[in-house]
Amino acid sequence: MTVRIAPSILSADFARLAEGVAKVEAGGADLIHVDVMDGHFVPNITIGVPVVAALRRAATMPLDVHLMISDPDRYLEAFATAGAATITVHFEAVTHLHRTLTRIRQLKARAGVAINPATPVDEIREVVGEIDVLLVMSVNPGFGGQSFIPRSVEKVAAARALLQRAGSQADIEVDGGVDETNAARLVQAGATILVAGASIFGTADPAAATRSLRAAALGRPK
Ligand code: DX5
Ligand code: ZN
Repeated sequence: MTVRIAPSILSADFARLAEGVAKVEAGGADLIHVDVMDGHFVPNITIGVPVVAALRRAATMPLDVHLMISDPDRYLEAFATAGAATITVHFEAVTHLHRTLTRIRQLKARAGVAINPATPVDEIREVVGEIDVLLVMSVNPGFGGQSFIPRSVEKVAAARALLQRAGSQADIEVDGGVDETNAARLVQAGATILVAGASIFGTADPAAATRSLRAAALGRPK
């Protein structure tokens, strides 16, 4: 069983992003999760294409770009050019999901689709073949530091069952309120990527927190 840890820079110090990236890199992080919010699809506004391009220069790890924006099709090329390795769009924000996912792959990025807590896993059944990452939101998107919705563990299991039935090897990523208390259950249910903001950058030692989260996810003592 493997799991990749994706610290979310949403909870890092935005005036010192490169330092934040270096800290989690030292802790063995696998990906950098970048939360793009537009103040329309979600109530918060965060960062855009230029910051992704700057992070690409600062980080050696792949950038996992989570678009919480309406009409993401308008920006796919820009984020791919800026250096996104994975581009995840929200099921709830897209009209022609098959087209959007196909376009992301054409741009040589991994194609991700995120589903909100209120969206059933079954909604993505017809596009499983177009998905490299299924992101299960375990909070309502918009803010870091929210409480994990416990039902998400069952949702991850349902997502894994759906992917298995379809013969898909796609990653299952969990985002929101992930910490040492729920990481192992998520991995056992089938999660392969854990996003963590507050539980990593909200601590005094993000490198140690990255290591601890991985250990907890794999059910090992620190
Ligand atoms: C929430 C974002 C998350 C957020 C996670 O809308 O998509 O990636 O940064 O932060 P924590 O781990 O603090 O819930
Ligand atoms: Zn996110």
